[in-house]
Amino acid sequence: MLGRRDEHAPGGSTGVAQAAALLRSGRLNVVLTGAGISTESGLPDFRSKDGLWARMDPARIASLSAFRRDPQAFYAFYTNRLEALAHAAPNAGHRALARLEALGMVQVVVTQNVDGLHQRAGSRRVVEVHGNLREARCAGCGTIGPIEEMGAVLRAGALPRCGRCGGLRRPNVVLFEELLPASAYEQAEAACRECGVLLVVGSSLEVHPVAGLPVLAVERGARLIIVNREETACDALADLVLRGEAGTVLPEIVRAAEGAAALPAG
Ligand code: APR
Repeated sequence: MLGRRDEHAPGGSTGVAQAAALLRSGRLNVVLTGAGISTESGLPDFRSKDGLWARMDPARIASLSAFRRDPQAFYAFYTNRLEALAHAAPNAGHRALARLEALGMVQVVVTQNVDGLHQRAGSRRVVEVHGNLREARCAGCGTIGPIEEMGAVLRAGALPRCGRCGGLRRPNVVLFEELLPASAYEQAEAACRECGVLLVVGSSLEVHPVAGLPVLAVERGARLIIVNREETACDALADLVLRGEAGTVLPEIVRAAEGAAALPAG
């Protein structure tokens, strides 16, 4: 029986072995990721000391009212994010989660990230609860198209307008003051309700409704593993807290899980 809050010292093996054992024995295991899994791909997170919200006010550049009040500042912020994403690639943490899915130890990755790096790393079932930066959506009629068209118009110094209704086009991400896409969130909630193990990676778990998913999972009997560089809002709920870099800890868990799988039965 695991005690709650078994800390894993960086590089330690106890916590990694425990995490691998939980994932091997769990059923319908779910991973929930946040911006922290993509920092080793060169994409800043939000609430670390060097994160995006440490230097910018999200209410002024990443909210629906900011988009309406100051589209130029809004588009400048997202142009910079698209530029950073163009140079980003999946890291060892993303690849480790894809491997756990291939091993049958993870059924779905629920992500708050909009960078598409899980899919590029090979994860097949990914639920994007905060939208994505692959598409642009018309704020007027909702028409969706590739984001490259929006980027090209912005680089030409114009505002991207919908060909159908003339409305402004914006990235198909969830802005502050907006609701999450209902279908994606329903899938995420259903998965967390049924999972045997919820593995949370690289999220401060401060933004609702996603921050409530670990609570829901634990209330329904799931085991909770948190891999994070810093303390999170749900550490006290966790069976296991692995403090460290996702790109280091997750491959260690895969090696432990594969090593155990290779051992002869009995
Ligand atoms: N390995 C492990 N943890 C990391 C790493 C790493 N390489 N890099 C950063 N972290 C941790 C940070 O310590 C932090 O606790 O990841 C966490 C990231 O938290 P946030 O920056 O708050 O990101 P996230 O939880 O995804 O934010 C949720 O808030 O602003 C909105 O829409 C935005 O989807 C985002 C949501």
